[in-house]
Amino acid sequence: MSPEAGREHWGSRLGFILAAVGSAVGLGNMWRFSYLTAENGGAAFVILYVAVTLVVGLPVLLAEFAIGRGSGRSPIGALAHFGGRAWTPLGWIFVATGFLILAYYSVIAGWTVRYAVTAAAQGFGPDAGAFFGRVESGWDAVAWHAGFMLATVAIVAGGVKAGIERAAVVLMPLLFLMVVALAIYAATLAGSDGGYDFYLAADFGEILDWGVLQAAAGQAFFSLSLGMGAMLTYASYLSEHEHLPNESLFVALTDFAVAFIAGLAVFPMIFALGLQGEVMESTGGTLFITLPGAFSDMGAAGRVVGLVFFAALVVAALTSAISLLEVVVASAMDGLGWARRRAAVILGSVIAAMGVAAALSPKVLDVMDKTASNLLLPGGGLMLALFVGWVMRDPMAEVRRGAEGVRWFVLWRWLLRVPVPVVLAVVLWQSVPALWQTVLGLFG
Ligand code: PHE
Repeated sequence: MSPEAGREHWGSRLGFILAAVGSAVGLGNMWRFSYLTAENGGAAFVILYVAVTLVVGLPVLLAEFAIGRGSGRSPIGALAHFGGRAWTPLGWIFVATGFLILAYYSVIAGWTVRYAVTAAAQGFGPDAGAFFGRVESGWDAVAWHAGFMLATVAIVAGGVKAGIERAAVVLMPLLFLMVVALAIYAATLAGSDGGYDFYLAADFGEILDWGVLQAAAGQAFFSLSLGMGAMLTYASYLSEHEHLPNESLFVALTDFAVAFIAGLAVFPMIFALGLQGEVMESTGGTLFITLPGAFSDMGAAGRVVGLVFFAALVVAALTSAISLLEVVVASAMDGLGWARRRAAVILGSVIAAMGVAAALSPKVLDVMDKTASNLLLPGGGLMLALFVGWVMRDPMAEVRRGAEGVRWFVLWRWLLRVPVPVVLAVVLWQSVPALWQTVLGLFG
């Protein structure tokens, strides 16, 4: 089998890279990264996170690129192509994960749209907690979620080149500028030093904690969009002999850079306004409660800063949501022969309907997030590492195309064979009991 002749392709190498970066850079970089850093000891967590990204995340990212480009298929077909029919169930799990993540991701994205509109229209009031309470769940949340899904469907329906690539090429540079501008602004605030100290001075006692490793690994997978075939699917639209090792390194470093710079905006702003006490208490609320509180205290400037901040989040979320929907849509196109538009509209509607549960109940949203990021993504990554490390015949030949002369492939395959599965198995071992508790909490 050779990659299908009629398959869509990226218009340029830059288009592919920006789309992959767009998938990686999302709510994870700003929402999850900031609260996990706050929860897990600041700089110590950041250092561990970088290490896990390089040792565990990067090899799996390259594995997804290799399977995707080599097969020219979406996950189910790609795994069958290299591993035989026995591997199709893993592909099905990937597609199911796409449904699940997008369903709640779009709800949170809906909050960010509403926050951006609020910042522009009237600014945040003094009681940010009460505002979040109104935004977080209920029929309003359903409506904003539905609107966000509509935009996602519209872009994916446009196709790989005219929809996804075009959106990424316009939106990603814009996002980068906004995040950098925010970090620069934060540096001008009096009293921001405490934020840098907290963010950049490590408390190494925390690094040795298993819980911190689990958080770092979960975050690395979520942030790099790994373990459910998003990167695999994007790589399936590569026609040329790209230098996959370089591309994967670039995507991983850019993803980290955006998260890091976002932290340089978030923590100094929070400390400058004396709100650090609230960060520790409200985990997910750092972004949606503490920061709007800071914007409200900033007065007129806060309106602009708030708008830029939440607009950046909307952009980041949109390019990630696109990649989640694309996994599902591409699978229906490859597997069922559906036309792109039909797949985008029908499957997007199913996902939007699933998301209603998350928009009406924060507990359901939490269970969906934990199931995906603590179980399905690391589990998917574990299976992918074993697949490329032990099952796929000659994966080296696959990455070597376009990257002749690179010598560290042997190391890559070894990482996939032993260290990556071991780390991921430990992470899963740790997270399954906690996940079970969360699920029980739904009924308790
Ligand atoms: N990487 C995205 C983020 O950081 C989330 C995502 C996960 C996107 C899995 C696609 C697949 O927000």
